[in-house]
Amino acid sequence: MASSASRTSLVEVSDLSITYDGRFGKHLAVSGVNFDVRPEELIALVGPSGAGKTTILRCIAGLLSPDGEDSIKVDGKPIKGPTEGISVVFQDYSRSLLAWLTLQGNVMLPLRAQGVPRAEAKKRAREALADVGLGGKETWHPWQLSGGMQQRVAIARGLACNPRILLMDEPFASVDAQTRMDLEDLVLKIKNEFKISIIVVTHDIDEAVYLADRVVVLSKSPSTVSRILDVDFPTPRTQEETRVLPEFGEIRAVALDLVRHPKTETV
Ligand SMILES: Nc1ncnc2c1ncn2[C@@H]1O[C@H](COP(=O)(O)OP(=O)(O)O)[C@@H](O)[C@H]1O
Ligand SMILES: [Mg+2]
Repeated sequence: MASSASRTSLVEVSDLSITYDGRFGKHLAVSGVNFDVRPEELIALVGPSGAGKTTILRCIAGLLSPDGEDSIKVDGKPIKGPTEGISVVFQDYSRSLLAWLTLQGNVMLPLRAQGVPRAEAKKRAREALADVGLGGKETWHPWQLSGGMQQRVAIARGLACNPRILLMDEPFASVDAQTRMDLEDLVLKIKNEFKISIIVVTHDIDEAVYLADRVVVLSKSPSTVSRILDVDFPTPRTQEETRVLPEFGEIRAVALDLVRHPKTETV
């Protein structure tokens, strides 16, 4: 039965369970997770360490199969594997960029793999690098950049594929606080300019509340959704103005309590 919410959903996660079948037997990591992502919406996925955030993101990216075939749908169609229109930015940018390729070469890589002709791939890579503030640095190599700038390259690589959905797993976990705020603002800029949907996994509650339209709070593993919090701040958001709003503090307090003292309640 299609609800009115499902009609406006781009991504539907319904009763998502994920069992790892490893050398030491079966391990239920995620148990009946439900949420959706609407067009042009940013969802922050938070929860205790080991809750299954990365596991859920890998399933949406089509890199891991959920227990139920139909539990993740994009545009109403079940995800069967890596899907055009879905880009992923991983946490560990130092391993995801190839040191011997230029920035342009790194960004072109997935485009070439998709069969995009060289000239077109080059043009799109240049545009994507400019979009993340690295215009003019096409011929640089990753090792010439700071960690924050390397993560911008990884974001450019995701954007160059013209995604409708961008998945980010703890993208700014290993950069300093100032750089992190700049990168957060880059994510908001990308969301607004490209009108895409974004799921950001983060363990930083403040970051989640600053970035998100809705925060999905997970329980401990095997995780369920503890709560979905609406974040309705005025836009465009700025670090200085948004973080001091009384509502910011209120939502942050609720999310923090749910993550630090996970209860058994479900939505
Ligand atoms: N490849 C794997 N094989 C077996 N268990 C795994 C594997 N990857 C993760 N897990 C387990 O699944 C649970 C969720 O892990 P993960 O998704 O990495 O959590 P998070 O990203 O929220 O920290 C944890 O209990 C973890 O130990
Ligand atoms: Mg993780």
